[in-house]
Amino acid sequence: MPSLLSADFANLQSSIEQIPDADALHVDVMDNHFVPNLTLGLPVVEAIRKVTDKFLDIHLMIEEPDVWAPGYAEAGAESVSFHLEAAKAPIRLAREIRAKGARVGMAIKPATPIEPYAELLVEIDMLLIMTVEPGFGGQKFLDLTLPKITAARELITKTGLDIWLQVDGGVSAETIERCADAGADAFVAGSAVFGADDPNAMINQLRTTATR
Ligand code: DX5
Ligand code: ZN
Repeated sequence: MPSLLSADFANLQSSIEQIPDADALHVDVMDNHFVPNLTLGLPVVEAIRKVTDKFLDIHLMIEEPDVWAPGYAEAGAESVSFHLEAAKAPIRLAREIRAKGARVGMAIKPATPIEPYAELLVEIDMLLIMTVEPGFGGQKFLDLTLPKITAARELITKTGLDIWLQVDGGVSAETIERCADAGADAFVAGSAVFGADDPNAMINQLRTTATR
């Protein structure tokens, strides 16, 4: 799914219209505290909600997700991901997001292991493994995250639940196949999509590469 981080922030609606084949839109919320970058917040997500029916996948890179995350579910996002490193009470937060009717995503940075948190998997609908340090688009994919993707897929399989495994950061035509082989089944691409001559065609190319 395309990340709007690399879209035209002055023309978000036309950026969304450029990618009719996207199955979802990934929206990166950054607060300049959890990550050294600032993007957009709830009012912009509410505005995006008004101009599209697409699945909205919100990625919160913010401090205090316990306070802010439920509001994004209330705004009509289909999925809300918070960072495990920032959550004070991840189980309570996951349940609160679900209670508001959204899917729950739990995101982890490249250096955060998943094994100590395996018990949390039953509380979530998606695990988001960052494949770059969060904060910016256009960074190089970190190969060192591949074993973690494989390990996470194994832990998810053990739960017997249909938990999506999303990768985010440096995902491109070159790297997406490695992610899929390691066990990822949801793919975020920002610069690869919006930097392409034809963003919509790139989405289809990435999807074909990931699923073959
Ligand atoms: C980075 C964001 C990503 C970003 C990915 O912190 O979470 O969603 O848009 O951008 P690319 O695909 O360019 O690495
Ligand atoms: Zn993201």
